[in-house]
Amino acid sequence: MQDKQRQILVTSALPYANGSIHIGHLLEYIQTDIWVRYQKMQGHTCYYICADDAHGTPIMLRAQKEGISPETLIERISDEHQTDFKDFSVKFDNFHSTHSGENQRLANTIYEKLNEKGHINKRTIKQAYDPEKEMFLPDRFIRGECPKCGTSDQYGDSCESCGATYNPTDLKNPVSAVSGATPIEKESEHYFFKLSDFEEMLHKWTRAGHLQVEVTNKLDEWFEAGLQEWDISRDKPYFGFEIPNAPGKYFYVWLDAPIGYLASFKNLCDKTELNFDEWCKVGSDTEMYHFIGKDIIYFHALFWPAILEGSGFRKPSAIYAHGFLTVDGQKMSKSRGTFITARTYLNHLNPECLRYYFAAKLGAGVDDIDLNLEDFTARVNSDLVGKVVNIASRCSGFIKKRFAGKLSASIHDEALFKIIVDANKNIANAYETREYSKAMREIMTLADKANQYIDDHKPWVIAKEKVRDEELQSVCTMGINCFRLLILYLKPVLPVLAAKTESFLNIAPMQWQDAASALTDHEINKFKPLMTRVEKEHVDAMVEESKEDLNVSETRQAVLTGPLADDPIADEISFEDFMKVDLRIAKIVKAEHIEGADKLLQLTLNLGDETRNIFAGIKSAYAPEDLEGKLTVMVANLAPRKMRFGLSEGMVLAAGPGGKDLFILHPGKGAEPGMKVK
Ligand code: MSP
Ligand code: ZN
Repeated sequence: MQDKQRQILVTSALPYANGSIHIGHLLEYIQTDIWVRYQKMQGHTCYYICADDAHGTPIMLRAQKEGISPETLIERISDEHQTDFKDFSVKFDNFHSTHSGENQRLANTIYEKLNEKGHINKRTIKQAYDPEKEMFLPDRFIRGECPKCGTSDQYGDSCESCGATYNPTDLKNPVSAVSGATPIEKESEHYFFKLSDFEEMLHKWTRAGHLQVEVTNKLDEWFEAGLQEWDISRDKPYFGFEIPNAPGKYFYVWLDAPIGYLASFKNLCDKTELNFDEWCKVGSDTEMYHFIGKDIIYFHALFWPAILEGSGFRKPSAIYAHGFLTVDGQKMSKSRGTFITARTYLNHLNPECLRYYFAAKLGAGVDDIDLNLEDFTARVNSDLVGKVVNIASRCSGFIKKRFAGKLSASIHDEALFKIIVDANKNIANAYETREYSKAMREIMTLADKANQYIDDHKPWVIAKEKVRDEELQSVCTMGINCFRLLILYLKPVLPVLAAKTESFLNIAPMQWQDAASALTDHEINKFKPLMTRVEKEHVDAMVEESKEDLNVSETRQAVLTGPLADDPIADEISFEDFMKVDLRIAKIVKAEHIEGADKLLQLTLNLGDETRNIFAGIKSAYAPEDLEGKLTVMVANLAPRKMRFGLSEGMVLAAGPGGKDLFILHPGKGAEPGMKVK
């Protein structure tokens, strides 16, 4: 119903390729997807662009830990992310990766332009370096005692216990989280983007209606603190793009990440007839919007416009920041089971319920949004199932059974119908301005009116009198028409429900302009249940699974007070790994003291066909004569280790607190040297 057709490019922040999508992320993708679907329903040209953010140290280290290449890792995560998004009906027009040819070319071009124009500085800085792993350490990878309150195991930039922020060099007893080594300081040459070259432009731009008011105010604090040069380089080893003419130096992940928006769009342009330059040149009459979380405002509202300005590209029309998702009033937490991944949610609940709940809570501001699980259940059941879907189920049966699916030729209550049609303007405006909660409230008020209409006219009473057939058809047709408009208004939020409704009503996909007309003299299909209630048990099961979802050692960490606190259980191994360990019965044929050894005894073990020499740290508990002739259990396939006193060819199993109380294992009756331990 808009007169002018707009050309709109929309992005959501690019999710990191080192973890799963969770419901916090989904707040953003769902917010954006609703806006895009709304624009498309209005008949505008709108492209929704995203990509995985594939570079950086955490991704490099995670790939190493899994023993795979970063390329393999990011490919796997990209598949996972895209499946999650699809299952939540988050529908991108293109999903790409920052680790792509398009992005490398664009990043290089942009960097070279900035460099030519003198916006890049080089200087040598000192940084924490892991001498064992031979890499510079990002702040997050240095841990130590808080310089302020002394709490141990804190990150290099801030203390989780007292909230102090500091430099990694201030940490007491720092260790590298990568290798455990003590970091040293090391010099290296870095490349800096001179943000302050753009101070005047940014000062104007951030006040010119491209940002939310709260965001502009926040930026003022940063302006006052002065715009600092931004370090855009990282030393090898790093997973990213090497900087042109700077061997061993890589673009910092946050430099090429926003460029990834353009690269993903370029990738789409190359697959279609779209003209990249038309959209991205200065003065383009197309629109470009970035939806982001409030934590990444600095990158989007300062660095990004400055980079675009400096390299001759258009700047965004607006940046829309949202707040953070909390669950039951608190930060998502793995121990409480509220760190819910997209997949875990899908294992238990209908994605449209979350889409609706987010819509019902989202406004245009940067306030945090709370997912209260009890309220979620009550709200979805009362609004969607109780109010909206119920209208169709109350009316459709009569139409199908009594009138062969045929709707009557006119609208029974023109006045009510007009109210619902006219509401489309306010609802459209609420979508356009991202005031979704307002839109949902309006729609539910209309649903109340429609239900009131049905309550007043009681089709189930009319149905008993054969002579009132015509009235019955009219009332039910009216009900179905109310339902149709409500679903049309909800379509950006509930695309699956809308598609099911379109097939039930036997109509073409609804556009916003269809709100003007009524559905009369038309045959509908049989009604099938469109949505079922959210059951508390399903919500509980989802929370339970989110607890189980935890990597075992993390669960343990969360509750540790006993001995495991100091000596945590090692990383999980697979059953296959365990099966590699070959445990055998061994006979201790000889046990001897070793000259110069305080803890070790030298054992000669017989495995039936083989004899092994082993050094075992059990001297504090056993005298050699106690051992000779006994059976015990050994790891028979351990690689031989060279020790100070000779080669040790395996290991005997012993358990106990140590000292005198250390016990080698005694196999039961019938054991024979060489037998496999079961
Ligand atoms: N890779 C960067 C973005 C680069 S954009 C050029 C990043 N990735 S992220 O995976 O950490 O986050 C992606 C988006 O999800 C961000 O906008 C972030 O604010 C948002 N959210 C992540 N956790 C969130 C919540 N708990 N709540 C709401 N949004 C959250 O940042
Ligand atoms: Zn502290």
